[in-house]
Parts: sequence; C-alpha cells; structure tokens
Amino acid sequence: MTNLFVPNELAITRDLDGISLKAIEEHFKLYEGYVKKTNEIREKIASADKESANTTYSEIGELKRQESFAIDGMKLHAIYFGILGGNGEPVGKVADMIIRDFGSIESWKEDMTAAGLSARGWVITSYDLDEKVLKNYSADAHNVGIIAGTVPIIPLDVYEHAYYMDYGTNRKGYIEAFFRNLDWEKINELAEKYID
Ligand SMILES: [Fe+2]
Repeated sequence: MTNLFVPNELAITRDLDGISLKAIEEHFKLYEGYVKKTNEIREKIASADKESANTTYSEIGELKRQESFAIDGMKLHAIYFGILGGNGEPVGKVADMIIRDFGSIESWKEDMTAAGLSARGWVITSYDLDEKVLKNYSADAHNVGIIAGTVPIIPLDVYEHAYYMDYGTNRKGYIEAFFRNLDWEKINELAEKYID
C-alpha cells in the first residue's frame, strides 16, 4: 500500500515583517511541488523493477535517491511555513531549552545566523533524540546533512529562492526577518510531539 501526502494549506495571508506575501506564495509553490513529487515517486517505487537494482544506474536506485530529496524538501518546508506568522517573541518550552542548550536566545541566534550564512540549503534547530538536546545543524540540500536521530523543530530555509525576491543577496537581512516572524506557540506545539 502506498501512503500519499496531501499538501498543507498556506496559513499566511499577509505580508510579514520583512518577508513579503508574494515571496511566501511563490516559495509555497515549491513546497507543493515537493509533495507532488514525493507522491509520484512513491507510486513509481511501488511498481518499479527491483530485480535490476544497481549502484551505477537503475530505475529503483534513482527513485530511491530522489525520494529522499523530495520528502525532506516536503517535510522541512511544511514546518518552515507552519512556524512563520508570529510575533517573534521566544516563549515556552523550546525557548527554555534553547537557553539551556545555547546559553541564551542571543547565542542561539548568533549560531544559527552564522550557520545560515554558511549553508547552501538549510539550518535546522533540531532535537536530538539520543542526546536530548537542541542543536543547530546545517544541510547543503534537503537531503544532505540531515542528522540521524534528530527531528527538525525550527528549520531556516537559506536557499536563495527563500529571500532573493525581497533581499537580493542580503541573506543576513532575511535571517533577521525570519527570527522576527517566528510563531513560538506553533514551535512549542510541534516540539510537544517529540520532547517529553
Ligand atoms: Fe525553500
């Protein structure tokens, strides 16, 4: 049986502080594309020829390879859009954990900003299920740099498509705006699923 995904609705309906609705709407189309491709790949995997699997080239090999890109792209974007639209004021359990694990909200932002200016895809404040701490990990593509045993809590998209329309090459300005628009209620809600 193949489980297929239904894309989320975009909950943002206005310009955010420093991120335009137009940029978000265009960006959201990419998310919808990842949902579509994840479903398409899943269906193809179900009927692909498994006998001809090969590391150099095989249909099943390519489908499996691209599945990780599509599904990580889908999941990270779903969280990203779901945690924007707030007032940026850190509250609740995740804010407390950030202070515990990074020393302060400012230190967390500093670390995330530096990682965000260096990464080619994402910086993700992730909860490590083994260490039971929050860490910022960078990923150079949706499926490159994801750490085993972690769950994404606050994914920051630093692909150029996330900010070029509003900021040109000023990625730092976009990262600052990202922090200003975080919805900490939503972040805490998400974290509740994973953190005792
Ligand atoms: Fe993106």
